Amino acid sequence: MVREWDPRTASSAEIASLLDTLNAVLAVDLPQDPPWREDSLREYLAEVMPGERRISWVAQAEPTDPGDPGAVLGQVHVLLLGDIGVLEVLVHPSVRRGGLGRDLVLRAARRVYQEGFRSIGVEVVGDTPAIGFYESLGFTREYVETRSVLDLAAVDWAELAQMATGIGAGYQLEFFPGGPPDDLIEAYARAKAEVRDVDDGELRPSSYDPERLRDSLDTLHRRGMKPYIVLARHEQSGEVAGLTEVVVPAQHPTRADQYDTIVAQDHRGYGIDRAIKARMLLELRSAEPELAEVQTWNAQANEAMLKVNAELGYRPDRDWCEYSVDVAELVHRVDPPR
Ligand SMILES: CC(C)(COP(=O)(O)OP(=O)(O)OC[C@H]1O[C@@H](n2cnc3c(N)ncnc32)[C@H](O)[C@@H]1OP(=O)(O)O)[C@@H](O)C(=O)NCCC(=O)NCCS
Repeated sequence: MVREWDPRTASSAEIASLLDTLNAVLAVDLPQDPPWREDSLREYLAEVMPGERRISWVAQAEPTDPGDPGAVLGQVHVLLLGDIGVLEVLVHPSVRRGGLGRDLVLRAARRVYQEGFRSIGVEVVGDTPAIGFYESLGFTREYVETRSVLDLAAVDWAELAQMATGIGAGYQLEFFPGGPPDDLIEAYARAKAEVRDVDDGELRPSSYDPERLRDSLDTLHRRGMKPYIVLARHEQSGEVAGLTEVVVPAQHPTRADQYDTIVAQDHRGYGIDRAIKARMLLELRSAEPELAEVQTWNAQANEAMLKVNAELGYRPDRDWCEYSVDVAELVHRVDPPR
């Protein structure tokens, strides 16, 4: 049975069952990824940025006894933002190839269409069944990024400490667990607005103003995801010359996500990129003792960033592809207008 589902009011048994399905999916599709934990999973699924909406459906097995809600065997959600719907779907490996994935995507697509949105975007992990699945539904590939993973156990910490100090004169590095302090938000937002080197593979609007930045930090915290920031400050002007962001999610705290890394145009060529990333890893080592790995996503054309990541010890892991489809086309192909 498929039904619309609200993670805010779902029972704890449903959340736990969804987690089991997610971990069964990871075990077959991404066996090197750490399993997810239940910590803040409800909040992760429920919380969104102001102005965005997430709508979810679950597929549940028939209950085996009266008090049992029925295992969650599949789930789809779509995040409505800007003019697109960003889709995520999961089907338990034990019930795949029975048409459930297709059914879930079409439910979400019909709603996205009714709500007046034009396209659906989805991130698809290379070398998994999801590639054939989305292509069979008419989604087309927009671009491919590479996910790379850094194993902290293999890091040469002495070398990293040198990298963290190998920066041109006139810059100072600062570390902020939890996000930038309020008095730095404006300068931080200016640096992000000037140049955005999208380093996290997320589908997001690219404009950054102080208010949106505050909202986005607040949303991260509400979803159980802890941001860490290292800034390079230009001492003379006080400007934020560079920044790097890593997020440690409560749901998989042994593997952190590298978000944006930005070096403002006027401050390139002084070793800031390498130094801020190295300093971040040194800080995380003591701030997050459980942390074992950091993952990052890069456009394959971004050679400068890939070079720095390789020097830090990141190893390419998988293709991470963005696919999209025109919603009207998808819906009309399945439900032809009469
Ligand atoms: C992708 C996914 C949702 C498909 O679910 P499903 O219920 O097996 O899909 P369906 O049975 O509806 O398949 C519909 C069509 O997609 C295509 N398809 C599905 N799996 C495929 C595969 N392994 N290879 C090639 N094509 C495939 C087929 O054309 C299929 O139709 P057919 O079975 O009649 O040939 C499921 O494999 C899944 O949950 N994957 C993980 C997705 C994810 O986001 N993971 C994130 C962490 S890795």
